[in-house]
Amino acid sequence: MAKQLVAKLKLCVLISGRGSNLQSLMDACAQANYPAEIALVVSNIDGVQGLERARNAGIETAVVSHKDFDGREAFDAALTEHIAAYHVDLLCLAGFMRILSDDFVNRWRDRLINIHPSLLPAYKGLHVHERVIEAGEQFSGCTVHFVRPDMDSGPIIGQAKVAVQAGDDAGTLAARVLEQEHIIYPEAVRLIAKGRVRIEDEQVLIEDVT
Ligand code: GRF
Repeated sequence: MAKQLVAKLKLCVLISGRGSNLQSLMDACAQANYPAEIALVVSNIDGVQGLERARNAGIETAVVSHKDFDGREAFDAALTEHIAAYHVDLLCLAGFMRILSDDFVNRWRDRLINIHPSLLPAYKGLHVHERVIEAGEQFSGCTVHFVRPDMDSGPIIGQAKVAVQAGDDAGTLAARVLEQEHIIYPEAVRLIAKGRVRIEDEQVLIEDVT
């Protein structure tokens, strides 16, 4: 077996459901030359498909239910405790449906990323595809960004643009956007793991390989 000379970036992926973006990261990490590995998957909801995907692949999982805690801070403290043992380098939100406290976000500043199904800063929040179609937009897309305390904000690492087609409904548009999510999320993580992502004045700079 080939010896691994450079340590891989350790990821913790936070989910709440289906976990198709988690799957795209798992698939990327399964490639020998991909520079990251998933150390832990945390869900705030038990029994979701994403947990099943991780367990089937032999990845460590934890369920930290927000219902077991009195308030956001207590929940976030429990999250921190679970994650601490894994010495994680980067947290990846992948369909994680909880708003994190400012303290948590600041503690993980520049080590916490999210994928959102719109061309941020347009269409923050929920029900993006419905709103995009309702507004008659010609294009939508998806964004990977560093997380800042304001919801769906922070330096943008990568985006993909998707044309809205005549006859699209929220479901068909979501499916085409999701295909792109599965490409840009592992690519963003790869760039970070390779040390090619720098933040200057809250703008991401992608450095060329030297
Ligand atoms: C994705 O559309 C992602 O952009 C959004 O939530 C959805 C999660 O899907 N944040 P999945 O659980 O990764 O399949």
